[in-house]
Amino acid sequence: MSERYESHDVDVLVIGAGGAGLRAAIEASAQGARVGVVCKSLLGKAHTVMAEGGVAAALAHVDPSDSWKVHFKDTMLGGKMLNNWRMAQLHAQEAPDRVRELERWGAVFDRTRDGRILQRNFGGHSSPRLAHVGDRTGLEMIRTLQDFGVHQGLEVYMECTVTKLLKQDSRVVGAFAYWRETGRFVLFRAKSVVLATGGIGKAYTITSNSWEYTGDGHALALGAGAELIDMEFVQFHPTGMVWPPGVQGLLVTEAVRGEGGLLRNATGERFMERYDPKRMELSTRDMVARAIYTEVKEGRGSPHGGAFLDISHKPPEMVKKKLPSMYHQFMEFANIDITKSPMEVGPTVHYIMGGVRVDADTGAATVPGLFAAGEASGGMHGANRLGGNSLSDLLVFGRRAGAGSAAYAAKAPGHGVVDPAQVAAAERELLEPFERASGPDPYSIHRRLQQSMHSLVGIFRTEQDLMKGIEEIVKLQAEANAVRVEGSRAFNPGWHLAHDLRNMLTISEAIARCALQRRESRGAHARLDYPNLNPELGDVNSVATLDGEAVRVSQSPLPRMPDELRALFATEPAGVQS
Ligand code: FUM
Repeated sequence: MSERYESHDVDVLVIGAGGAGLRAAIEASAQGARVGVVCKSLLGKAHTVMAEGGVAAALAHVDPSDSWKVHFKDTMLGGKMLNNWRMAQLHAQEAPDRVRELERWGAVFDRTRDGRILQRNFGGHSSPRLAHVGDRTGLEMIRTLQDFGVHQGLEVYMECTVTKLLKQDSRVVGAFAYWRETGRFVLFRAKSVVLATGGIGKAYTITSNSWEYTGDGHALALGAGAELIDMEFVQFHPTGMVWPPGVQGLLVTEAVRGEGGLLRNATGERFMERYDPKRMELSTRDMVARAIYTEVKEGRGSPHGGAFLDISHKPPEMVKKKLPSMYHQFMEFANIDITKSPMEVGPTVHYIMGGVRVDADTGAATVPGLFAAGEASGGMHGANRLGGNSLSDLLVFGRRAGAGSAAYAAKAPGHGVVDPAQVAAAERELLEPFERASGPDPYSIHRRLQQSMHSLVGIFRTEQDLMKGIEEIVKLQAEANAVRVEGSRAFNPGWHLAHDLRNMLTISEAIARCALQRRESRGAHARLDYPNLNPELGDVNSVATLDGEAVRVSQSPLPRMPDELRALFATEPAGVQS
């Protein structure tokens, strides 16, 4: 095998080099593991940078009454109690230390007057809790982790796509991949593998995600026999750019609202008054996204089909200081000076709450040798994620998955045996599109998938639409299996898409089937035909597995929260406690 392919042996292989992947790699390396990091894109180009407004941690620098318990409670309530309680607990308890650690590693956060890390408001957080670097927090975090990680001696394999996890019996023992530039194949043998590949925004038409986010980790996990949970919960960030068309979906950070930005409809009304009068613009993302969508649908949208987000009542110097990226983004792309005029914004697919089912403490998936962290994993955010909780999630659980995978690798008897038949099958699957004399092209299938997901598996759902969506996905899967690609394996975007498309279709099917199964509205999953929360579904996870090529869905009970934590919710209205 090793004669035919370039191959690399590591203890821990981390797939994905955003915040979660880098933090996992740093930890595994600190535990003495030899670590390889594979990323589809260039190192540092990750969706982590699209978490702009801050990292949530109960540092209590601005509100001294903040604590991990309040953060835990906000997170669970924001997630409509569907979160894995243990993950939410660890997250709230450990986030402050992870932020301080990042500062020690060189991250330069904005400061309070007395020189401590400054924190700002964000939707659903009951205190100013987001440590931030203007509106470039994710970027600063990636810069810091990348710098620190590279100096720890991580082996980085850039522009390399993993297409299959390889198994010996039930255990994951490596991965099959190809170099995007040359198309040549490469084998990684590993004692454990961490998936940190982010989400699946590219299955939708309007998204803040860039081309890399095609559900790869979710699909690799399913293919290896792991379980995905709660895939119906797709987060629409309320504020993406709606104009001009070339930048539609580009994120407009929640920090604009955190710094006092107001949402208005075409009549000038602050419409959030009708949807969430208490929290207004700082309501949770699911609520604000649905509110904007409804305003537009009912004819009160802005000229390009969004809402107005206005920060021009604040001093221009403050806007430029606190929101420098937003200032430049609107100036350069839309010729709008946000210190003088409102922005036009609308919902954009940003994040998936569902993902690989993992053990809260170690990040271990249900398949031996496999781990997951960050957006690729599920459970932490329940039915809806609070802004800022992804950056803290990736620090807390990146570190935990790094430690878990290194401990597993240290105990492993050695590298497993790579099965040549699995490698040959992976190779065949990649090469087939070149061998067909005719067939559909991947671009048109991708476009149709995006349209179907957006219109049939979008912000509001119905049984009829979801069934139609599944029918369409299944049809597109058949077409994708017959796709034809021209040219050679050397940098060939059509070929790359032909592979990514299979992942997107499988994971889109999981999303749609889980959405069909959940007959209620909860968090980011809004069913017009079941508009209310069903308390009986408050303690079940949706579960997706792969049976051959078919996605199967079922339900399983949520781990039960201990009574001392449950007591924190005693004063909440009935229903949310379920
Ligand atoms: O709006 C934002 O800055 C995004 C933050 C997040 O997704 O956590």
